[in-house]
Amino acid sequence: MSLRRPARLLALAAVGVVLAACGDERQDVFSPEGESADKINQLQVPVFIAAGVVGLLVAIGLVYLIIVGRRRQRTDAEDPVQLHGNFKLEIMWTILPALILAVVAVGTVTTLFDLDAEASDQPAEITVYAQQWWWSYEYELDGNTDNGAEIVTANDLVIPAGVRFELKLESRDVIHSFWAPSLAGTRDVVPGRTHTMLMQADEPGIFEGQCKEFCGLSHANMRLRVVALSDSEWETWLDQQQRDAVVPVDEQALAGRDVFVGRCASCHQVNGLEGADGEPIDVEGEAPLVSGSAPNLTHFMSRGVFISGLYPLYDEDGELNRPVLEQWLRKPDSLLPQAAEERRGMPNLGLSEEEIDQLVAYLSTLGPPPPGAGT
Ligand code: CUA
Repeated sequence: MSLRRPARLLALAAVGVVLAACGDERQDVFSPEGESADKINQLQVPVFIAAGVVGLLVAIGLVYLIIVGRRRQRTDAEDPVQLHGNFKLEIMWTILPALILAVVAVGTVTTLFDLDAEASDQPAEITVYAQQWWWSYEYELDGNTDNGAEIVTANDLVIPAGVRFELKLESRDVIHSFWAPSLAGTRDVVPGRTHTMLMQADEPGIFEGQCKEFCGLSHANMRLRVVALSDSEWETWLDQQQRDAVVPVDEQALAGRDVFVGRCASCHQVNGLEGADGEPIDVEGEAPLVSGSAPNLTHFMSRGVFISGLYPLYDEDGELNRPVLEQWLRKPDSLLPQAAEERRGMPNLGLSEEEIDQLVAYLSTLGPPPPGAGT
């Protein structure tokens, strides 16, 4: 009888482990798709196997001793042989673990140095900014940091495949941790410091990731994606991203632009957007294109995800994810809890349905769809 409850718990735990393994495989440290992740995998697999074997042997020994011990208790046998002070045995179980740990240490240190390889000739210097609770990316293309970054974007980190980047990581508020498991390890992103990490995607593709350090109430919603493009797609992307937003021709979109200028442009930057006075609207920030508090939306439509990377911007048919975009404008805290707490994140602006329609029409004009969507 007494075994029933533990047995049930054990079964439940086993089911949990199996179900967890069935989950989405998009963030899988065991399927490396980039150089750094590959090196880490080559270390972790043998270490896991060694740890598993040791764990199994200890568990088997423990169960064996429990069974033998209970049986002996029942038969009222004498005390078992005492091993305390057995020189040979004590030397053995001191040296054996030390040897195993030494082998693991050599592998770990070698891998750590290996992960510090030189970056390739980078076509852009990319700085990753962590914010509560989303990621922005700045691309420095002309080597002149005085004029600000040439491209500022959010959620999707776009890189060309096959290039080893040294990303710079900075935080605007608290400590976050940047993690795209199938491409590289993790790196803490700390306010006031610039950390670096190498990242490379071997082939074009989309690689999911997320913040890995608890950073506040919306930490679990702080997703990211690395989008690796082919060389020609990358060239096109670079060219498009450096353009200013075009003035819409559609009347609904024009009305939306006015709503945007009046309600959204105090936080969101759209490059090339002019205010009622005909002057370009520059949201205050560290660099001309950076708002520092909300994503730059100049090429909003060229991203695959929005709302901190939580929702796809396009549905399976490549159409704009209109219901979610409207809901985001209507009632942001219904999609991203804690979004507007302490004035962080998207506030509820109390927009009318007409304004929402106009805004969606305007946002739809901001940039071309990403490769493979909206076509
Ligand atoms: Cu940012 Cu957790």
